[in-house]
Amino acid sequence: MNRELGVNSSRLLARLDELAQFGAMQGGGITRLALSDADRDARDRFVSWLEALGLAVYVDAIGNILGFRPGGEDLAPVLFGSHLDTVRDAGRFDGAYGVLAALEVLETLIEVGLETRRPLAVVAFTNEEGVRFPTDMLGSNVYSGALSLEEAYAVPGFDGLTVGDELRRIGYAGEFPPGALKPYAYVELHIEQGPILDRSSIPIGVVETVTGISWKELTICGAANHAGTTPMDGRRDAGLAAARIITGLRQLTLDLGGDQRATCGMLSLEPGAVNVIPGRAVLTVDLRNGDESTLEEAERRLAGLVAEVAQQEGVTITARKLARVRAVAFNPMVPAAVEAAAADLHLASLRMGSGAGHDAQVMAGLCPAGMVFIPSRDGISHSPHEYSSPEALAAGANVLLRTVMKLAE
Ligand code: GLV
Ligand code: MN
Ligand code: MN
Repeated sequence: MNRELGVNSSRLLARLDELAQFGAMQGGGITRLALSDADRDARDRFVSWLEALGLAVYVDAIGNILGFRPGGEDLAPVLFGSHLDTVRDAGRFDGAYGVLAALEVLETLIEVGLETRRPLAVVAFTNEEGVRFPTDMLGSNVYSGALSLEEAYAVPGFDGLTVGDELRRIGYAGEFPPGALKPYAYVELHIEQGPILDRSSIPIGVVETVTGISWKELTICGAANHAGTTPMDGRRDAGLAAARIITGLRQLTLDLGGDQRATCGMLSLEPGAVNVIPGRAVLTVDLRNGDESTLEEAERRLAGLVAEVAQQEGVTITARKLARVRAVAFNPMVPAAVEAAAADLHLASLRMGSGAGHDAQVMAGLCPAGMVFIPSRDGISHSPHEYSSPEALAAGANVLLRTVMKLAE
C-alpha cells in the first residue's frame, strides 16, 4: 500500500466550514434538524459534491444519500459515511465529519486513479439524531430492514409533522429501494464525543461496542388548580411527579452503578403559569448502557419508579416508546482493519466503547461494521463548543482511507 497516500485535509476542512453554514445560528451553534430546510440545503450541497466527482448518486426512499464508485470486480461494496442532521445548537463535527471525510477519501482515490477491488459507496443517513423525529438512526434502521418504510414515514415529529410529509416536502423521498445496495462492510468515522481519547492523548479510537439506548416519553396527568387556595395535601401535581421521576433517574444510576446513564432532556408543564398547579407534564427519558441486560434492568426500574410516583402523587402516567436500540459488539473484522490502518500510519490507538448512538450499531445488524473515533476536546459534544483539531481530523480521515482500502481488497 502506498505509504504516501493521504487525504487533502485542507479540502476536508474547507468543506466542514462550508457545511457548518447550513443551520448556523447566532452564537456559533448549528441547528440542522432532520428534514428541515437547513438539512435540505446541506443535502443539496453534498449531492453536488458527489456529482462533481462523477459518482452515481442514489437517494433512497427514506432519503439516505449514496454515492457509488464501481470497483475492479462486481462485488458487495464497502460502505462508509455518517449523517448530516444535528441536534439543536450543535457543533459542526458530529455526523458531518464522517460524511465529508468519506467524500474526501473517495475524492483522494479518484484523484490518484487508485481502483479498489470492491466497489465503494459513501452514505449520508437520514435522521440519525432523532431530535425532531424520534426514533433515532431512522435512515439506517430502514436501510438494515429493522424498521419498515411505512413505519418510518408515519413517525410523528415533536412539531406534529411526519417523516413522510417532510421527506417529500424537501424533495428527498427518493426512488431507490433502501438497503438494495447490500454492503460487504460498513465503516463510520466520528468524533468521540466523550473524554477518553482526549484525556489519554491517544489519536485514534477503535470502537468495539456501542451503547444500547432506550427512549421513552412519559405523560403525567394530574389536576390543575389554584396555587394559593389549594391545600398542599391532596394536590395532584403533575410537575411534582415529573420532578420526582427526574431525581429518581439519578438514584437509578447510582443503584445500578457502572456506566448506566439516565437523562431527562425534555420537560413541559401545562398550563404553564406561575400561579397554577401543573395539571399535565410531558417528559422524556434517555436510558443507556453498553450492557444489554443491565439496560433491561434499568427499564424495569424506571417502570417501577413511574408506578410508585403515580400512586403516591395521585396522578396517572402513560409511557410511550420513542426508540430502542440494543447494545452492540461489532464483528471483529472492521475493528481489526481500523487498528491495522492506524498502525500503518504510526498512530497510537485504543480499543473502546461508544456511549453515543451511531448508525454503525444499526448497520451491524446487516453486515460487519465498525467505527473510527478521534478525540473531542474536553469530551464536549452536542454543543457549539464541540472541537477537534485540524490534525486530529486529518489523522482520522487518513485512518478511514486506509481502513476502506484494506476492506476493499
Ligand atoms: C446520538 O447522537 C445519540 O447518541 O443520541
Ligand atoms: Mn453522530
Ligand atoms: Mn449526535
